[in-house]
Order: sequence, then C-alpha cells, then structure tokens
Amino acid sequence: MVIQTSKVSESRTNPNQQNFIHEIEEGLLAHSASISPKFLYDPLGSHLFTAITLLPEYYPTATEKSILNHYQAEIAEAVGTGGTLIDLGAGNCLKAESLFTFLKPSHYVAIDFSEEYLHDALENLRSKYPQIQMHNIAMDFSRELILPDFIPNDDRIFFYPGSSIGNFLTSEAQALLTQIKEQAGNGSLLIGVDLMKEDHILKAAYDDPLKVTAAFNLNILRSINSLIGSNFNISQFRHQVMINHAENRVELYLEALEDLSVFWPGNSKLFKKGDLIHTENSHKYTIHSIQQLLADAGFKSTKIWVDPKDYFAVILAH
Ligand code: TRP
Repeated sequence: MVIQTSKVSESRTNPNQQNFIHEIEEGLLAHSASISPKFLYDPLGSHLFTAITLLPEYYPTATEKSILNHYQAEIAEAVGTGGTLIDLGAGNCLKAESLFTFLKPSHYVAIDFSEEYLHDALENLRSKYPQIQMHNIAMDFSRELILPDFIPNDDRIFFYPGSSIGNFLTSEAQALLTQIKEQAGNGSLLIGVDLMKEDHILKAAYDDPLKVTAAFNLNILRSINSLIGSNFNISQFRHQVMINHAENRVELYLEALEDLSVFWPGNSKLFKKGDLIHTENSHKYTIHSIQQLLADAGFKSTKIWVDPKDYFAVILAH
C-alpha cells in the first residue's frame, strides 16, 4: 500500500518567527491587551491541556467521549462507513481513532497546526490500522481550508470535536463552517459543541481547584517570553475567568497583580494593577443557536445527540 504524506506549507499557515513577533507585539500593545490562544499550546501547554481534559470539573472532553461511545451505532448508521475522515485539529489523533472501529473510514486525513506532533501520532496509527490510508497535513485551517487534490472528494466526513468551534467569534465560526460545507460537498460534518449552562459549572470547568487551568493559562507568558524575548514574571499575574452573558461565552484572562512593566527587544508595556490580558473566548451554544449557525453556513439538515444533563452536543450536519 502506498502511504502518502503531504505537507501544505505557506507563509501564512506556517508563520515564521517574525510574523509571530509582530502579532504578539500588536496584541500586547493594544489598549485592551490580548495574546492569541494559539500560543497556549507550546509543548508544556499541550501537556497541561491534556491534564485539564482529565479533570472531573472539565466536563467537555469526557461528555463528548461518552456521547460518541453511547451512540456509535446510530452515528455510524447516519454517517455511513467507508468514507474519508478529515480530522480538524487532530492533535494526538486519539479522538478520531475512537471512531475508526464504527465509522470504518477508508482514508484518514489528520490536519493540525503543529506538524511534529501529528507526524509521530500518525506513524503509530498507520501500523495499527494498515487498512486505512492516512495523510497528515500541517495547516492553520482557521484561516483557509483548502484540501490538496489527492484527498478523495466523495464521502468526506469532517470531524471537528472538542467544541473548538466555540473558540471563534460567531462571525469567524460561520466563515469556517461555510468553508467546511464547501469542502464537504455532499459529505458531512460531525461536530462537538459545548452547550450553555449554569455559571457555577462553567466557573469550575475553567478555574479548577487544583489550579491546572490557571497553570495552563499562565504558561502562555512563558511561551511568549521564549518567542519574543520578553520578561513576563508569572508570579505578577493571576488566572481570571469571566462569564459574558451578553455574548454567551466564557472569557479567559490574565490579571496583573501589581503595577509592572514588561520589556522585550525594541519595546515595552506598562500594566497597572488589575489590567487584563485576554487569552481565550469559549462560546457556549444552545441547540437552537448552533443549528442556526450551521444552517447559515449552508448545511441542510442536522442530527443531534446530547448527554443526559444536556451539557454537550454531538451534531451531524449534512
Ligand atoms: N478550547 C478549550 C475550551 O474552550 C480551551 C481551554 C480550556 C482554555 N480551558 C482553558 C483556554 C483555560 C484558556 C484558558 O474549552
């Protein structure tokens, strides 16, 4: 069997250090400071996020897994078997692997921003599932989603788990879903979406008592220090969670605990005590609002599975 490995590299999708520096500086120097959530996922950050998914308070990962597991027969029936499974944000590919037994894809396409990580994960999967043709593609699909020509056109099943769609602003989410719909043709999208719920459940999920989430969020400052040569001192900041009811989202920040200055080559920024650096938004949908978004993106029909507490939805959109 021929195993194809492809690499899509463009300056936009594989930004060099200069692009990063510019983007980070712009965020830090803005009146409302922010750092892009993509910088949360350096090697330590990726491990800390894996630890978050093991916390009892962080319900999304376990709930999604239980829905996929419980309804696998129905999902396979609705999706069909033998298609091309396209995994958006594949990471360690474990979520997609859990679908292999019941979706029985003929092809598996793992897409992620970080190429190194993907490569190792796929090597391992290839030897375990020799009957599935596998491809890995390193690209930032949130900017533009265009698949190379050798990916089969028929029976595409896009898989977008983890409620990652919630990390986009609604307009961005709609643009991404529209692109997925265009690329799916008459195929489908299997997506995990976190649902709106009581504040205390959200607060605990994003500010756990063990402080793993705080460590994950604060680690972005270490990540920035190594990327732009800044001197952020982590002990001068704390993890802060706010629930924005008007926008239906959890907002994650780092709050300055004192007046302080941060320096990096060519620039500096003064933070006053209480100033916030925004790091992430996590939008929570209702069944109605996500169905509306999918319809606006061009999907004609949906099939929805939820857990008994209505915490999370797995949706097949066609
Ligand atoms: N995509 C995850 C989510 O929105 C990311 C996340 C979980 C996160 N906990 C966090 C991001 C804390 C920043 C800080 O659920």
